[in-house]
Amino acid sequence: MFDKPIAISLSPNTEPDDVRLAIKELLIFNGWYASAKITALESTLNDYFGDGFKSLAVNSGRSALYLILETLGIGGGDEVIIQAFTCVAVPNSVLWCGAKPVYTDVDDNYNLDVNTLEKKINKNTKAIVVQHTFGLPARIEEIKKIAVKHKLHLIEDCAHCLGGTYKGRKLGTFGDIAFLSFGRDKVLSAVFGGAVITRNDKIFNLITAKIERLKFPSRFWVLQQQLHPILFSLLLPVYNLGIGKFTLGKFLLFFFQRIKLLSLPVYEKEKSGGKIDLFPRKMPGSLASLAKHQFTKLNRYNRHRREIARLYFDGLKGTKVITPNYDKNSVWLRYPVRLDKAGELFEYAKARGMLLGRWYKSVIEPAKDLSVVGYELGSCPNAEKLARTVLNLPTYPGLNGTDVQKVIAMIKKWSITK
Ligand SMILES: Cc1ncc(COP(=O)(O)O)c(C=O)c1O
Repeated sequence: MFDKPIAISLSPNTEPDDVRLAIKELLIFNGWYASAKITALESTLNDYFGDGFKSLAVNSGRSALYLILETLGIGGGDEVIIQAFTCVAVPNSVLWCGAKPVYTDVDDNYNLDVNTLEKKINKNTKAIVVQHTFGLPARIEEIKKIAVKHKLHLIEDCAHCLGGTYKGRKLGTFGDIAFLSFGRDKVLSAVFGGAVITRNDKIFNLITAKIERLKFPSRFWVLQQQLHPILFSLLLPVYNLGIGKFTLGKFLLFFFQRIKLLSLPVYEKEKSGGKIDLFPRKMPGSLASLAKHQFTKLNRYNRHRREIARLYFDGLKGTKVITPNYDKNSVWLRYPVRLDKAGELFEYAKARGMLLGRWYKSVIEPAKDLSVVGYELGSCPNAEKLARTVLNLPTYPGLNGTDVQKVIAMIKKWSITK
């Protein structure tokens, strides 16, 4: 009864030491915006990427992408190629610059389809954003060749793949510039946060100057993010305590969100392509501390995710779900499977207390209306098919082998009834 639920997105990276740190940061009221903490996170990232790469922290991945596009001079009349099967934050950053997102279809690895990429390039195209979805590396070398041939900027979206490699080289180091996310569901979490990574001095200096002119988010916003790991550590142990659907943990979650002590990952206005004042802003020092602390766990977390992925890969053989090829260089932020009745299995699992994921159940998730983010229905058929059939299985740090076997057994049981 007091077991934490199997839940893919309820503060999945938080461990007791992260909660203790969040409490400490919360209490150091005059340190919330301390620049030394931001610099410390950036130094950690610089050391990790090495090879002359330098980082700049901001308050989210979408802020980082927006600043990158602006700095590259992308604006009205320009086109930026992104993949369908993505988060609304990605086309929004393009739209906020006044440019047009142009969608390419994806391959069966949930990543940009190299074969259809060149058809999308025209004289207005200025950049390609490459997303390594779920931490599975995109075919980045081939994409880079196309970018170089057409003199386009190559931006790596590393929101899902921090710690991943492709042919031995770190993801994030192939393009002109990359960005990370430290969102609540990402490889490492500061609830909100992101960073730009580049070794181009000119771009670095321009973005540094832009960030210097930005404001910090409000104290209330920082408070919300600091409370996130703390409140989840209270509500998760009682998440299933109650009768049927009515449980104490669910009530607390609803209540904390309702009174706005907990923030949501995407704001209502963003779902219709709208820009809110909060992006871009500087990274608060206290959140930088949380991210830096999580960094010490990067290898352990990713090793764990790989082991879990291996268990799913072996355990789901012979079932109706389609699993991805096992790749030991992937990060496996989530383990994506495909099946015709993904929505049905999602509900079946939920009724049994297992909260799985549906990134991305719409080609641009969670956009309210695809046309507002410039997506034409039918234009990326494989992405649309994947969106209909995808289900994400959890791989997060707190998930143990028994949990994985429960998920596998649940899927097998469901398959028999179909
Ligand atoms: C693929 C991808 N790119 C970028 C982002 C934006 O990151 P953030 O939430 O830190 O703004 C997300 C976020 O959810 C994402 O899934």
